[in-house]
Amino acid sequence: MRPDIERILAKDELGRDDLVALLDISDPDEESALFRRAYEVKRKHVGMKVYFRGLIELSNLCVKNCFYCGIRRDNRAVKRYTLTEEEVLDAVRFAHAARYGSVVIQSGERQDEEFVSFIERLVKRVKEVSHNELGITLSLGEQSESTYRRWFDAGAHRYLLRIETSNATLYKTLHPVDHDYEARLEALRTLYRIGYQVGTGVMIGLPGQTTEDLADDIAFFKKMDVAMIGMGPFIPHHETPLAGSIPDWKEQKELQLRRALRMIAAVRIHLKDVNIASTTALQAIDHVGREMGLLAGANIIMPNLTDTEYRTGYQLYDDKPCMDENATMCTACLERRITSIGETVGYGEWGDSPHFINAKKH
Ligand code: 5AD
Ligand code: SF4
Ligand code: FES
Repeated sequence: MRPDIERILAKDELGRDDLVALLDISDPDEESALFRRAYEVKRKHVGMKVYFRGLIELSNLCVKNCFYCGIRRDNRAVKRYTLTEEEVLDAVRFAHAARYGSVVIQSGERQDEEFVSFIERLVKRVKEVSHNELGITLSLGEQSESTYRRWFDAGAHRYLLRIETSNATLYKTLHPVDHDYEARLEALRTLYRIGYQVGTGVMIGLPGQTTEDLADDIAFFKKMDVAMIGMGPFIPHHETPLAGSIPDWKEQKELQLRRALRMIAAVRIHLKDVNIASTTALQAIDHVGREMGLLAGANIIMPNLTDTEYRTGYQLYDDKPCMDENATMCTACLERRITSIGETVGYGEWGDSPHFINAKKH
């Protein structure tokens, strides 16, 4: 191991250059040392319990047209669907019976009143059906302040909104002109103001993204004081403008996975007590990708609760796993994966990040 990497890994506080050096590691021994260090920090600050968040992919209708995403508006090859209230509540009953701490309701973006009131009603129904026991996280994109408030007042307490990249110039290259980086930032600030526990994140290995950009993303997370982070490798989707953006994808994807794992590790070391998700995109590259994510410092897993018949309709990127599985299969499978690496599932607990709990004490 190079002495400077050894020195950085022994530090308590990391600077930008330190983060860049860690993210740029290519030597396998140095990488193992990085993951070991991140795992130590994870054990000390959040423990070895993994929390499940049941993921409900409510709808693949989306008014936006992000260049990377498989369910973007202009992708005519996707059959569009929206779950009914009963279908959502079935998934919620499953999550409650399986003693999950919370569910995440995710979908493409819509701002129309029909959608806004549907979500408002759903949030209230989730609370009823679970006797107020399930936490509710929403991941429904950019909305107006009044919409965010309505959903919060209905009972949602967490919101996930990825910044995708904290580099405003890079953000522009990934989105059409009417998608505004400043609006995204403002939406994150609004969510805080309202009182949501806020999660954000980025895609790792985007075309044109530098290691410095990733280091700046980590600084951004710190500055925004986020409680939850969801990040994954960028994976080209064949029906999008970025389809060919990583030409030798087959040779590159292993590197892409390792880059994402180093990012998880660096975030864990730098932010210490936040919740970090080991995302499905990791598993799209390697069948044990999510276990690797946990070993690199992540502590949250989002088992997919969407009914098998709708799963193929929600492919944001290629090679998404578990297209033929259902909620029971994914839950059992993930529990097995978690115990296989010596960790346990925190059943029946909300699993708020110590960061959020500590912040509330002040
Ligand atoms: N590769 C990886 N992640 C993607 N997302 C969308 N498209 C892709 C892709 N091609 C992520 C975005 C979005 C989240 C719901 O899915 O970060 O915020
Ligand atoms: Fe819509 Fe989200 Fe996909 Fe963008 S990333 S096209 S907002 S679902
Ligand atoms: Fe879905 Fe393994 S995570 S079957």
